[in-house]
Amino acid sequence: MNLFDVYPLNDITIVKALGSYVWDDKGEKYVDMYGGHAVISIGHTHPHYVQRLQDQLHKVGFYSNSVKTPLQVELAEKLGKVSGKNDYQLFLCNSGAEANENALKLASFYNGRKKIITFKKAFHGRTSLAVAVTDNPNIVAPVNQTDNVIFLPFNNEAALEEAFQQHEISSVIIEGIQGVGGINIASDLFLQKIRSLCNVHNAVYIADSVQCGYGRSGQFYAHDHSGVQADIYTMAKGMGNGFPVGGISIAPKIQPKHFMLGTTFGGNHLACAAALAVLEIIEQDDLMTNAKNIGNYLMEELKKLPNIIEVRGRGLMIGIELPEDLKEVKKNLLFKHKIFTGEAKPNVIRLLPALNISKKEADNFLEAIKVELQPL
Ligand SMILES: Cc1ncc(COP(=O)(O)O)c(C=O)c1O
Repeated sequence: MNLFDVYPLNDITIVKALGSYVWDDKGEKYVDMYGGHAVISIGHTHPHYVQRLQDQLHKVGFYSNSVKTPLQVELAEKLGKVSGKNDYQLFLCNSGAEANENALKLASFYNGRKKIITFKKAFHGRTSLAVAVTDNPNIVAPVNQTDNVIFLPFNNEAALEEAFQQHEISSVIIEGIQGVGGINIASDLFLQKIRSLCNVHNAVYIADSVQCGYGRSGQFYAHDHSGVQADIYTMAKGMGNGFPVGGISIAPKIQPKHFMLGTTFGGNHLACAAALAVLEIIEQDDLMTNAKNIGNYLMEELKKLPNIIEVRGRGLMIGIELPEDLKEVKKNLLFKHKIFTGEAKPNVIRLLPALNISKKEADNFLEAIKVELQPL
């Protein structure tokens, strides 16, 4: 049997990883400024993480959600504390798309409405509703197309107000910092506007924190820079440092009913152990402060370099927009300098490293990109 070929692949096989470094099968060492796509939050193979998963695996790896799982309660308490949302409720699932799917569904159960507002360049996942609110027709199958979704320009308050006047809105879903869309920050004023319109119209404000959350922006959820609270925060990626786990953090005004949501694997013992280990390290090592400090340092230094159109971001979610003729830079960083980075089309380099990346690793990256940006 062959693999179903859905991604163009770099000809590299990773066999070992530690902290912000990975090694290939030929023994070559790489700096990971990509975090395996914003997934590695506390560094690869962190000893506390490995130990916690190993210990859990020896006790019980999985049992069904039909019985009590105290680890889920422990995780909810810890997440409430570290994210500063003690009064919210946690529903656990397995991925970012699934988190958004559940959030959109829950919003519709809550207010009985159908229309969802989403934004240009948004990416929310590949399952049915998540892909319907994603701004990429190439990945929306005919069966996913729906009249229930309204696409609006990002950060445009007038368009938002008008949509609320014209339609009965169930929810507004927005990334605090658009990732796939090219590192575009939702303005504080815009998020405040979403909050106030959702309050007036009893709509649900859903903060997609799958990529920009879990401390990456220097605050636990990137949306919280705006000073207003969302009704539902969705999360995955950095939550398990590579173990597939997702979740939604739900405001107290949304009350559960039995069977309205459910899952087989969500919140299993191993996933909870992984997610707890991540939160323990984020808290113990104050990784949100490190994300803010190293992120600011990187952005300040990048802004001094030639040939960059714009540097955007918050904390360790950084976009470097390059002119068209420098489209080889990402490839050169990987193959010449042995540095993994992410990208956003057409020509934005995305930095999404582990939150405990050091200044030395940041400097290593800066030296390499400096070489690549020198005028020919
Ligand atoms: C903002 C955002 N939401 C949702 C998703 C989907 O997450 P997953 O791939 O875990 O389904 C992604 C994935 O890149 C994302 O960046």
